[in-house]
Amino acid sequence: MTQPIILEVQNLSRSFGKFQALGGISLKIPKGKLCALIGPNGAGKTTFYNVVSGRYRPTIGKVFFEGRDISGLPSHALVARGLLRSFQVTNIFPALTVRENVLTPLAVMRGLSFSFLGSMARRPELVDEAEAILARVGLRGQSHRVVSTLAYGDKRLIEIAIVLACQPKLVLLDEPTAGMNPEETDRMIRLIKELSDKSEITFFITEHDMKVVFSVAENIFVLNQGTLLAEGTPDEIRSNREVKQAYLGGSLDAASH
Ligand SMILES: Nc1ncnc2c1ncn2[C@@H]1O[C@H](COP(=O)(O)OP(=O)(O)O)[C@@H](O)[C@H]1O
Ligand SMILES: [Mg+2]
Repeated sequence: MTQPIILEVQNLSRSFGKFQALGGISLKIPKGKLCALIGPNGAGKTTFYNVVSGRYRPTIGKVFFEGRDISGLPSHALVARGLLRSFQVTNIFPALTVRENVLTPLAVMRGLSFSFLGSMARRPELVDEAEAILARVGLRGQSHRVVSTLAYGDKRLIEIAIVLACQPKLVLLDEPTAGMNPEETDRMIRLIKELSDKSEITFFITEHDMKVVFSVAENIFVLNQGTLLAEGTPDEIRSNREVKQAYLGGSLDAASH
């Protein structure tokens, strides 16, 4: 039985001047799975997301989303097709309320203007939708709070709410737990797992905590120095000799400096 593929990259490369950050990566992401991209610092994970999400153009290679060639398309065109990369905290409007932050992308998705926030009462169905999304990410009851007053972990949940408001099919999350304390990390990972289980959305995340990766990811892709070192289930990756060597080498280097 062949599984539908939502994202396929073929021989993807990206250079910055003479430096090749990605060197010929080919991989396929099955629809609906929770996949993880791992690899030592500087391996090219963020660059990979930047190229796939349209922030950078590939130097060589192609990206296919739902079978269509999307190589080099700008981010906004990809968002419209359902390929999203998580917004960073800096993309959240701190002076607006939690609800307004979710209403904004809901309005944009419908071609409404920003000024619509002032006349929200006329669009109660959008308010209901915003509330439903906030409940889904665990921010029920926080709607009227101004975002700047929220704890860091809650702000990052708004990022997820904004992504959901864009009706994504594939979500790339680059270190969604960066800077979080253990409870916030646990809450974020449980949310991603639950969204993955209960929706059709495909998630492709990077995460530095290997315990977290091996406990939630269904497929793992390992990058090393811009190339794909291995891919497989958590069990396959755990027992992969080259992966062990790449990580062991890294920690030995770190220990000897
Ligand atoms: N815009 C850029 N200009 C020059 N070099 C870059 C740029 N973005 C990333 N790099 C380089 O590409 C390599 C991979 O970086 P990155 O993708 O951020 O790795 P990771 O996310 O796996 O830690 C690093 O050596 C980094 O310095
Ligand atoms: Mg990175």
